[in-house]
Amino acid sequence: MTGYKRHVFVCLNERDPADPRGSCKHRGAEGIFKVLKEGAGKAGLEGDVRINRAGCLDHCEYGPTVVVYPEAAWYHVPTVDDANEILRTHVVGGKIVERLLMDNMG
Ligand code: FES
Repeated sequence: MTGYKRHVFVCLNERDPADPRGSCKHRGAEGIFKVLKEGAGKAGLEGDVRINRAGCLDHCEYGPTVVVYPEAAWYHVPTVDDANEILRTHVVGGKIVERLLMDNMG
């Protein structure tokens, strides 16, 4: 069967620091990618779950940006602790982390 049980995209786009839009890379996205990638491997999910580097996902103002399919859950992931929560709860557990959804940002 082609495809994955879950497919995760982490924006690692980097812009010039002077760019007013900022970029996910400068907000710590590498650390977030590492937590998700290594964590999925340690959880034995290789083959079922794919963690991919992505270019700009066009939600820069809410970044670091992570999107998880098939749920199409768009997350704002400010810290590695938040990345760990997404790993445990959503990527492994299958339950959306409501508090980190961009749609729920106040
Ligand atoms: S720089 Fe990450 S969403 Fe645009």
